[in-house]
Amino acid sequence: GKEYTCIQAELLEGGAIGLITLDRPKALNALSEALMKEVLDALQTYDADPQVGAIVITGKDKAFAAGADIKEMKDKRFVDAYASRFVFHWNSISAIRKPIIAAVNGYALGGGCELAMLCDIVLAGEKAMFGQPELNLGTIPGIGGTQRLIREVGKSRAMEMILTGKHFMDAEEAAQKGLVSRVVPGSNDALLAEAISVGKQIAQQSKPVVALAKECVNAAYEIGLQEGIKKEQSLFYATFALEDQKEGMQAFIEKRKPDFKHK
Ligand code: HXC
Repeated sequence: GKEYTCIQAELLEGGAIGLITLDRPKALNALSEALMKEVLDALQTYDADPQVGAIVITGKDKAFAAGADIKEMKDKRFVDAYASRFVFHWNSISAIRKPIIAAVNGYALGGGCELAMLCDIVLAGEKAMFGQPELNLGTIPGIGGTQRLIREVGKSRAMEMILTGKHFMDAEEAAQKGLVSRVVPGSNDALLAEAISVGKQIAQQSKPVVALAKECVNAAYEIGLQEGIKKEQSLFYATFALEDQKEGMQAFIEKRKPDFKHK
C-alpha cells in the first residue's frame, strides 16, 4: 500500500476490506489537515479498488479522534478559513460509495464525532465517548455536527451537548439513542475484529446493490419522505437490471447461497 505519515492504510481479507487506522496517538489522533488529506486519499483509493467491499476506520489507544487539530487552527483568521475553504474537502467523504464502518474505541470529540457520523455504520467500544466541545474553544462544530447530531440523538440532547460543550455521551447511551449501531464489549482488538466481520458480511453482497442501498439510505438525510420513496423505488426497479438480482433470487429458490458476479 501507499506510505502515509498520519494514518496506516492496509488491505485485509484478501483485499475485501480497506482498513484505515488514524495514527497520531500522542495527539489523541487530532485531525490535522495532513491527516484528513491522507484519510480522504485512502478512502478514494479503496472506493476505486474493485476488490474492496467495505472500509473500516478506527483510532488507536484511547482516542478515535479528539477533534480538529487545535494547535494547527488556533491562529487562523476568518479570511484564512474562508478563502482556503478550510474543512471543505471533508464533504467528499459523503461521495464515497463503498460502505464505511467506524470502530470508535475512545474519544470521538468535535471533528472526531463528526467523522464518526460521516461513516455509514458506527460500532462503539466500551470506552467510546462522544462530544461536541467546540464551544469551549469559542467556535462551533464545522463538519456537520449541528446538522447530524440532532438527527441521531434528538434536539434536546444535541443542544445540551453542543451548547454546554460538556455532557459527553458514553457508549451505552450512544447505542440507546441510535448514534451508534451497538457496543462491542471487550478490548479495542475485539471491536476492530467485529467491525471487520461486519465489513466482510457486506463484502459478500453484490457491490452495485450495496452501493444502491447506501445511496438510498443516505438520501433520507437530504430529501423529504415522498422524494426519498420515489428515489428508492427507481433504484429498486434498477436492481432488476442486474445479473446479481437474478442470481440472488434464483439461489433462494434453489435453497443455496448466491454466487454474486459483482461481489
Ligand atoms: C490538538 C490535541 C487535541 C486536539 C488532544 N490534543 N486533543 N492537540 N488538537 N483536538 C493533545 C493535547 O494537547 C496533548 O498534547 C495530547 O493530545 C494529550 O491530550 P491531553 O489533553 O493531555 O489528554 P487528557 O488529559 O487525557 O484529555 C483528553 C481530552 C482532551 C479530554 C480528549 O485532550 C481534550 O479536551 N481535547 C480537546 C478536545 C476538543 O476540544 N475537540 C474539539 C476540537 S475543535 P501534549 O503536547 O500536551 O502532550 C473541532 C472543530 C471541528 O474539532 C470543526 C471544524 C474544524
